Amino acid sequence: MNGDGTIPSRGFPTSARAPGKCVLFGEHAVVHGAPELVLAIDLYTQAIVAPSSESRLNGDRGALETNRYLRETVAALGPSPGTFDVRTVSRIPRSAGLGSSAAFVGAVSAALAAGAGGIDRGALAQRCFSVERAAQGVGSPGDTSTSVAGGYVTLNAGSVGGEPLWTVRAGEAAWEVRRTEDPGWAWIVAYSGIPRSTADAVRAVAARLERPDGPALLEEFANVARAGISAVTRGDRTEVGQLMRRNQELLRDVGVSHPRLEALIEAAQPAAEGAKLTGAGCGGSIVALPLPGREVELVRRLARAGAVPYPVRSSPGVSLVEAAPAPRS
Ligand code: MEV
Repeated sequence: MNGDGTIPSRGFPTSARAPGKCVLFGEHAVVHGAPELVLAIDLYTQAIVAPSSESRLNGDRGALETNRYLRETVAALGPSPGTFDVRTVSRIPRSAGLGSSAAFVGAVSAALAAGAGGIDRGALAQRCFSVERAAQGVGSPGDTSTSVAGGYVTLNAGSVGGEPLWTVRAGEAAWEVRRTEDPGWAWIVAYSGIPRSTADAVRAVAARLERPDGPALLEEFANVARAGISAVTRGDRTEVGQLMRRNQELLRDVGVSHPRLEALIEAAQPAAEGAKLTGAGCGGSIVALPLPGREVELVRRLARAGAVPYPVRSSPGVSLVEAAPAPRS
C-alpha cells in the first residue's frame, strides 16, 4: 500500500496538524460504493502527544473512558499501547460536517505513529478509518483519507478520479482512493449552528436506499458525482455549480436536508455558481462555489442569514510540526 510520502520517526513529544474537509459531491452514496469528491480545507486540528504516567486529553483524566475516538486511536497502537498526555487545539467546529473527528484522529494518530517509528501514509489512512469506524460504527473512509492525503480526494471514481493513492478496507468493503487536479479555487463553507450525528444520518439514508427506487437513486448520485469530478478537473465552474444543485436535490430526496440548510443555500444563490449541504446533513454546514469576484458578498450573505462562514482553499494532508518543549516537572 504505497501512499504519498511517509510520516517520519520523531522522538516524543510529537506534534501533528491535520486538516478538516468538505464534501463537494457524493456524500452518503459513497458509503454504498458510489464515487465521492472531498476537499481537504485549511482549517486544522493540531495535537501534541507525549508518554505520561496517566492518560489525559487536554487535562481530562477520564477522557480515555468517555472519548471513543481517543480510546480507539490509542488502542490502534497495539496490545500494550502505553499511556499518553494528549493536547489538542482546533479551528474546526464540531458536529458541523467539516471533518473535526477525522482531523482529531489524523493528528493524534500521526503524532503517536511518529513517536513509535513513523508510518506509511496509506497505512495511516487505513488506521484512521478503522479508528473512526470503530468509534462511529458506520461510514466510509472519505473524511479520514482526505485528512491524511490532502488536496482534492476522490473515492470509487476509477480513472476519472486522478492518481491512485491507496485502497482502504472494512471487512468485505473496499474504497479506492485517488487524488485529482487542484483547480486552485476558493470555496465558502458555512456552519448552520445546528449540530448533528453522522452515524444517525448514515443509518437513515441506508434505510431510505432499501426502498424499491433505492438502486436508481444511488445510480443518479454516482452519475452526478462522476460528472462533478470531471467538471472540477476541467475547471468548469458553471457546470460544477449546476451539478452541486442537482446533488442537493438528491440529498433532499433521501431526507438529509434541513430548513436552515435550504435557507442558507437560497441566501447564497445570487453570489454563487452553486451550493449544497456538505457532509452528513440534517444540520451541519453548506458549501458554496462563489461567482468570480463575489466571494466577499457571498460571505456577507451567509453571515446575514445567520451562519458562520469560512472561506477555504485546498490544504496539504496531515503533517508533523515542531512540538512544544516538554513541560518541566
Ligand atoms: C460525512 O462527511 C460523509 C458521509 O458520507 C459519511 C461517510 O462517508 O462516512 C455522510
